[in-house]
Amino acid sequence: MTLEQARAALAAARRVAVLTGAGASAESGIPTFRDAQTGHWARFRPEDLASPDAYRRDPETVWAWYAGRYRDVTQAQPNEAHHLLARLEREKGDGFFLATQNVDGLHARAGGERLVELHGNLSTARCETCGTVAPLPDPETFTPPPGCPVCAAPMRPNIVWFGEFLPELALEAATRAFEEADVALIVGTSGQVYPAAGLALETRRAGGVVIEVNPDETELTPYLTYSVRDVASRGLLALLDPTD
Ligand code: OAD
Repeated sequence: MTLEQARAALAAARRVAVLTGAGASAESGIPTFRDAQTGHWARFRPEDLASPDAYRRDPETVWAWYAGRYRDVTQAQPNEAHHLLARLEREKGDGFFLATQNVDGLHARAGGERLVELHGNLSTARCETCGTVAPLPDPETFTPPPGCPVCAAPMRPNIVWFGEFLPELALEAATRAFEEADVALIVGTSGQVYPAAGLALETRRAGGVVIEVNPDETELTPYLTYSVRDVASRGLLALLDPTD
């Protein structure tokens, strides 16, 4: 497939499903997870911070890390990639669905509505006792851990950690959308973390076109229809705005 054909397929598609990963927020200044120079995992071991065991062992350290990331994403702004995807959503209407692995809330801040956050959200906490999910206070005044507004028990970050299940309804909705999609866009993800990465394959299996936007080759590349080798903003612009 050529870039022209990829653009044409996207323009003609009645149903579009989008999967985003950390690379979609890189141009907002938020580090990715696995990029050698800037990624979070280059500086920390995941099992030290993003697992239920780590939290049980040392909740203060885990909360301090998430509180810092919460502060950082609050100060970050959606970038052109978030805005272009929100524009595509307006164009496709009910035929649009976005599943993000990102926990930064930037798709919603750019106006996205038909979306699920498969790995949780940094700006909320979840009660381990009664399951209540509540927004965190302003990052400037927030001192972790937050107390549950319903039962007063300590709350944990509302993030899906290694070894935990994804929110069931969100994953089901995403799976359906990717199965039914004429075109799937896979933007800024290394495709190493399942089940999210498997969504791309659902569309391929069902006979749809799958287009990746990523400056680098990924684990998914060999299985996809076409790859735009560029950063998210320029890659999406090339697919959406052929005049530019
Ligand atoms: P990764 O850090 O694994 O991958 C980021 C991808 O973005 C890489 O393939 C980069 O080549 C690409 N990239 C970097 N800059 C980019 C840019 N400006 N535009 C487009 N792409 C760019 O991040 P994810 O795939 O999102 O899970 O990682 C998946 C999950 O692993 C995360 O959600 C997180 C982590 O463990 C949880 O926290 C549960």
